[in-house]
Amino acid sequence: MKVLFVASECAPFIKTGGLADVIGALPKALAAAGTDVKVLIPAYPALQGLAGGGPTVKVLDDLFGGKAEVRAVHAEGLDVLLLVAPHLYDRNGNIYLGPDGQDWPDNHLRFAALCYAGAELAFDGADGWMPDVVNVHDWQAGLLPAYLSQSGRTSPPVVMTIHNIAFQGLFDASELANLRLKAEMFAADAVEYYGKISFLKAGLALSDRIAAVSPSYACELLTPGFGMGLEGLLRERRSDLIGILNGIDIATWDPESDPHLVENYSARSLRRKRANKREVEARFGLQRRDGPLFCVVSRLTSQKGLDMLLDCLPGLVAEGASLAVLGSGDGALERQFAEASSRHPGQVGVTLGYDEPLSHLLQGGSDAILIPSRFEPCGLTQLYGLRYGTLPVVARTGGLADTIIDANEAALAAACATGFQFAPINATMLEQAIARACAIYRRPRSWSAMVRRAMRQPVGWDASAAAYDAMYRSLIAD
Ligand code: ADP
Ligand code: GLC
Repeated sequence: MKVLFVASECAPFIKTGGLADVIGALPKALAAAGTDVKVLIPAYPALQGLAGGGPTVKVLDDLFGGKAEVRAVHAEGLDVLLLVAPHLYDRNGNIYLGPDGQDWPDNHLRFAALCYAGAELAFDGADGWMPDVVNVHDWQAGLLPAYLSQSGRTSPPVVMTIHNIAFQGLFDASELANLRLKAEMFAADAVEYYGKISFLKAGLALSDRIAAVSPSYACELLTPGFGMGLEGLLRERRSDLIGILNGIDIATWDPESDPHLVENYSARSLRRKRANKREVEARFGLQRRDGPLFCVVSRLTSQKGLDMLLDCLPGLVAEGASLAVLGSGDGALERQFAEASSRHPGQVGVTLGYDEPLSHLLQGGSDAILIPSRFEPCGLTQLYGLRYGTLPVVARTGGLADTIIDANEAALAAACATGFQFAPINATMLEQAIARACAIYRRPRSWSAMVRRAMRQPVGWDASAAAYDAMYRSLIAD
């Protein structure tokens, strides 16, 4: 079976969040089960070196204002199809945002181009390689089924995976023709969303199946609190919607071999984790304290609920705990965390920015990771936390609810707890969860037992890749 993935990011080449991790890992897991996946992504500057090395498999004479081509390369264990279109992607900085911090003004064309090129590959293949199924990811790839649908040509079935419904790719209705969409596509059962064009809605309305990145998120999406205006459409399409939990790349994220740790360790050599803790303390200017070292590795946005954490800092510090934060995003939150570190010197350390190696060190060196998200489609940092024995403290929502077993009395008695959950999602409950974590940390045997159990959890892709595989096969059989 051949599957074409279409997405805007793919680790380790280009990453702003968990989407990239999934696009970099799931194809390898599918390949292990015999499915042949190629990933179409734009050739941003970070990928241009790679593009030079591969043959051209498709030429597009006018792709939204310039000539483009698709180059095929094999790198980092992945078959990548790079969409080379300098007029759209040859820009430094963030892949979505210009230097002013605002979306690139032509983002609708940049990602329509990705969808259009993907549709061409779906029709004609790449050098004889014809996909049996196309899997598009998030709004940036959402228009692809619209191009298939309006063409009237025979094309393979499409799966749309929703990683985050909060990002919908909304653009002015007047762009319809510029996007090469036929007038009939501006309809409630296609791209029209409250008078605008929604790339995400197009994907949800016109694909054959919809996958959400966790079972809980698949259920939440059907409600007004989480569906963000698309819950009605999703309820109608309920029988085509499935929740498949993300996994992680357990080769890249492995405390036994991770090159970003100062000492590698396993569940059998947990004492060696301490050297990483000392390194985190040194890098974040933290004193050694009696309580646990918590960390945060996150985009700083309202989704992630870290404003609630700011309210809990006096309590966290009073428990004898410390905190290391690595994050970037919202300017106000960045300032507030910087201020918090000045207010609690030696107890709260903050690094603003995006730093992949440091994110690994934090997973390796912290005792616990805080993820108080208001909503979380899946979340990967709690899975990295489990794998590195860094116990997750999470809000009970989406994939966080599906992956962490709260250390309540019953779970502790049954020896199955793997972290700490709180609900309802507010600062008071977060503070209580932090206090509960600190209390168990003061009982080293209970803590170590939880850490070892966390490290044994199956967080790889095996089961979920099999679920994707089964979904693709069911579509081909239809
Ligand atoms: P989301 O995709 O919503 O941001 P996930 O938990 O699915 O959330 O994935 C986030 C990914 O981005 C993880 O791999 C995490 O380690 C990484 N990440 C987030 N912020 C940073 C940062 N400031 N520096 C390095 N990695 C980060
Ligand atoms: C999104 C979600 C996150 C999920 C990731 C990968 O960015 O916010 O919860 O883990 O996609 O699916």
